Amino acid sequence: MKILILGSGGREHAFAWKLSQSPLCDQLFVAPGNAGTAQVATNLPVAATDFEAVADLLRQHQIDLLIVGPEEPLVKGIVNFLRAKEEFASLRIVGPDQQGAQLEGSKDFSKKFMDRYGIPTAASQTFTTENLEEGISYLAAHSLPIVLKADGLAAGKGVIITEDRTEAQDVLRQMLSGEKFGAAGSKVVIEQFLRGIELSVFVLTDGTNYKILPEAKDYKRIGEGDTGPNTGGMGAVSPVKFATNTFLKKVEEKVVQPTLSGLQQENIHYQGFIFVGLMNVKGEPYVIEYNTRMGDPETEVVLPRIQTDFVELMAATADGELDKVNLNVSPQTAVTTVVVAGGYPDAYEKGHNITELASLEDVTAFHAGTATGQNGHVTTNGGRVLALTALANSLENAVQKSQKAARTVQFDGKYYRKDIGLDLIRYQD
Ligand code: AMP
Ligand code: GLY
Repeated sequence: MKILILGSGGREHAFAWKLSQSPLCDQLFVAPGNAGTAQVATNLPVAATDFEAVADLLRQHQIDLLIVGPEEPLVKGIVNFLRAKEEFASLRIVGPDQQGAQLEGSKDFSKKFMDRYGIPTAASQTFTTENLEEGISYLAAHSLPIVLKADGLAAGKGVIITEDRTEAQDVLRQMLSGEKFGAAGSKVVIEQFLRGIELSVFVLTDGTNYKILPEAKDYKRIGEGDTGPNTGGMGAVSPVKFATNTFLKKVEEKVVQPTLSGLQQENIHYQGFIFVGLMNVKGEPYVIEYNTRMGDPETEVVLPRIQTDFVELMAATADGELDKVNLNVSPQTAVTTVVVAGGYPDAYEKGHNITELASLEDVTAFHAGTATGQNGHVTTNGGRVLALTALANSLENAVQKSQKAARTVQFDGKYYRKDIGLDLIRYQD
């Protein structure tokens, strides 16, 4: 099979790494990719959102299977664009169409969807410029803290949580005026604050059948002890101790099944990943958000635990034959530590040489933001630079190996969190 992956982060390197291990993979391409994907695949210099150029790649390389990594091309409708062309009628695509991608592309859509199908989530109300004044008085009486969410894609930054009603009112005005988050803030969802522990659950569906992939915990904040601003993710662990079988069964029955049957009732033929961001509130799952793709850095701990041939799994998703595949998962623990550029998630520098990559032992170094410099040297090319994943028989060992690798690699301004997984080591029911 000839396979093309769209995207350039750690998630896409993990996909490429996994797919390249399959005997079913004949040729593997990543567009645009990074210095890590170049080690296991051929990079093609095309942006994932340049649909015409992607169509050219599909033709030129006679691609059989397309996997769309990030949300942006999905929300912009790459699947609809390709499906409208007869020449791609038999192309296998992993990724939802534009309607399905609304689960991530519009918080208002996803909240209404959850309400229609009785899926547990925080109570909410949506406001636009039309009912701004109503929103202002709604906030005056809202319980604290208040959660405000820009409706559209905002690169993980569209959520504001505040204890201050006046600040919430200012934020609402700034979002609706377009001052904050531009068009993504033209609708704002205001919702109740959920108190609990977060968990990422991943579902792979072919439109009818589904598999629940290994769950993961993501460390979103920049600082140790979950402090400071949100990032794309500073580390991840899988499996997650508090995700007991009882809890996961509730997730399947109260969230996954009604989500999939809701999609079917709305005639949304969804083939791809659904990433459910959940809050465990006293043992009950509440959906914080849907994403219509895999998580990053969660992919870097989920895929190393999947033992089933990944090409087979992806092809079965696109063929509507997931019921014919067994999902085998390793009982080992995977931990990834993300090494980032100094300054991230604010402004940061690019182009620094990365050294000591070759001396890493016992880890897989997924490249999140790297490029190959002029002299062939691997350089930093993003905020998140590397996701260093260790797989071990215990959480403690996996943490140690991943952290050791994070200490070992070097580049100017390097930063990483030293507490990835420590809360789970300490966790007790
Ligand atoms: P999102 O962009 O929807 O993932 O939100 C970013 C982060 O905000 C989430 O990962 C949570 O940590 C937090 N968050 C979002 N919604 C809520 C909520 N209703 N209650 C508490 N925390 C929330
Ligand atoms: N790690 C969270 C995300 O991929 O959205």
